[in-house]
Amino acid sequence: MHPTQPTHALHTQHVGDLSGQSISHPARAWLAQQTAAGILTRDEVTGRFSLPPAHAAVLADPDSPAHLVGGALLAAGWFHGIDRVVEAFRTGSGIPWSHQHPDVFDGTERFFTPGYTMSLTAEWIPAVDGLVETLHTGGTIADVGCGHGTSTVLLAQAFPRATVIGYDAHRPSLEVARKRAASAGVAERVRFEVADAAGYPGLGFDLVCLLDSLHDLGDPQAAATRAYTALRRGGAVLVVEPQAADDLAENLANPLAALSYTASAFQCTPASLAQPGAAAWGAQAGERPVRAVLESAGFTGFARVADTPANAVYAARCT
Ligand SMILES: C[S@@+](CC[C@H](N)C(=O)[O-])C[C@H]1O[C@@H](n2cnc3c(N)ncnc32)[C@H](O)[C@@H]1O
Repeated sequence: MHPTQPTHALHTQHVGDLSGQSISHPARAWLAQQTAAGILTRDEVTGRFSLPPAHAAVLADPDSPAHLVGGALLAAGWFHGIDRVVEAFRTGSGIPWSHQHPDVFDGTERFFTPGYTMSLTAEWIPAVDGLVETLHTGGTIADVGCGHGTSTVLLAQAFPRATVIGYDAHRPSLEVARKRAASAGVAERVRFEVADAAGYPGLGFDLVCLLDSLHDLGDPQAAATRAYTALRRGGAVLVVEPQAADDLAENLANPLAALSYTASAFQCTPASLAQPGAAAWGAQAGERPVRAVLESAGFTGFARVADTPANAVYAARCT
């Protein structure tokens, strides 16, 4: 959903009033700054400051698919490690995911959750022929690079008969994921295991998901190959990646490209460079390399099955 087209009906929110005695000077300055930045509006007659509905969808409603506050938390997290980033710019060295500030892990969760909540089980899984039917009767799902487990929990909630396993190389993220599963009441049917995308255990999966994780890996080809061998014949791989075309010129037309390229520079390419393979795709890799690694692994029927302003969704079969 485009940020200016929120699905949630929101009313203009009254934020502050400069005539009010209770507003501190720093808060007054902030209201003025937010208005100067075009985020708030001010009624000249009443002196009231308001947050328009479209802006509230982006800034104040965590359930809105347009909610972007996770992006701000990501940026704060990246700047905690600015010295490492400078070093990476100078030398081309990597920054392991585990060396990022905790705000980066929380920001990632908050950034992706609105889109996954809106689309993962309602649009993306149904876009793969026969998958909903299989998962409603049972089946097993591997969620590879699951982070804090938002997607793993959503899958377990949507498919109560399926077994869902979240794999990630970052142990602290999985500790959070276990808490998320427990609070969502799905801990019995969800398991989280520390494992590499190229070497997690298990065979005969009906679905392997790589949700906003493939481009972060040092060796996306090894992950695609492992997905192929992990699936049963007829099983599907679902790859969700940031919305991107195959080259910079086309990506410049995407309003989210500025944020995605920032993620690439501060987090995604350094994370990949810190791993064997060092593919360094970045967050704007586009369709071509995704298709190439899946087909080289043996997958057939590659298709771009869905698009949102933030994500491109690809699927292919193990045959
Ligand atoms: C951008 S985050 C996405 C997390 C989650 N899928 C989400 O959308 O919130 C990428 C995730 O991939 C994980 N990761 C990176 N390299 C990995 C590897 N080689 N094997 C397994 N997980 C890896 C990171 O720990 C991180 O949780």
